[in-house]
Amino acid sequence: MQTIRQLPALRAAIAALKQDGGRVAFVPTMGALHEGHLTLVREARRQADHVVASIFVNPTQFGPNEDLDAYPRREAEDAALLAGEGAALLWAPDAATMYPQGHATKISVSGLDSMLCGAARPGHFDGVATVVAKLFNQVNPDLALFGEKDWQQLAIIRRMATDCDFALEIAGVPTVREADGLAMSSRNAYLSPDQRRAAAALPRALNAASLAIAAGADVPDTLGRAKQMLLSSGFGSIDYLDLRDGSTLADSAICHPDARLFVAARIGTTRLIDNIAVGQEIPGAGQG
Ligand code: PAF
Repeated sequence: MQTIRQLPALRAAIAALKQDGGRVAFVPTMGALHEGHLTLVREARRQADHVVASIFVNPTQFGPNEDLDAYPRREAEDAALLAGEGAALLWAPDAATMYPQGHATKISVSGLDSMLCGAARPGHFDGVATVVAKLFNQVNPDLALFGEKDWQQLAIIRRMATDCDFALEIAGVPTVREADGLAMSSRNAYLSPDQRRAAAALPRALNAASLAIAAGADVPDTLGRAKQMLLSSGFGSIDYLDLRDGSTLADSAICHPDARLFVAARIGTTRLIDNIAVGQEIPGAGQG
């Protein structure tokens, strides 16, 4: 697997991959790869002839008090994992290549970007939409894959790609979970052993609420009980625990066929997010 850091070399390598008419799939990441990312690469290989992955810890999607400097960086291990999964190419630009002096363009997906995580992280989704649009232009893939754990991000990227006329397919890949149901995330590495044990309450609360709402329980009561469960299990605060439409992300007090539960909660200084469809069960999460 080739690691490329400059745009002209990337364009030449992509042209070479496409020469035989092969389909190119793209897996954008910020590194610190885990089984969730590797599942994206495996799915990419299943759906395409060549897989291009990127690692870029994108500064514009971190707020001033967020963890940009502390974000785990381990490119050599990540590159070995990607090579082991059969990726053809790693695009690993530095910040000056992505945002050269004078860079002034920002993409905003209005509406979708101000709710849920957007409310607690102003500007975050502008940073995501902008960097993903740039990555799409750089890599020019036929298909790009994203994890459904970041459901709101996926909805925003789909909207941005449609609105900006990107001629590529976007695939969402189901969340990969630990044995106790916790969604895999690079941020899980920040949890102490005690916090990691307590974090299992997140999928447990989602699972219990999902099954209760599907069985007809009152939505506000159920969400209130789930919040209590999180707070009494070691979570310090809850940014949101909402029932929303899976496509528009509009808030909903009643269950409907496309309804999903979305949660963001903080344990210590670590903010964890997750989401599931109503009626979906999380293996290993039990009933809470
Ligand atoms: O999900 C991520 O890792 C990032 O938000 C992404 C899509 C790679 C953009 O920086």
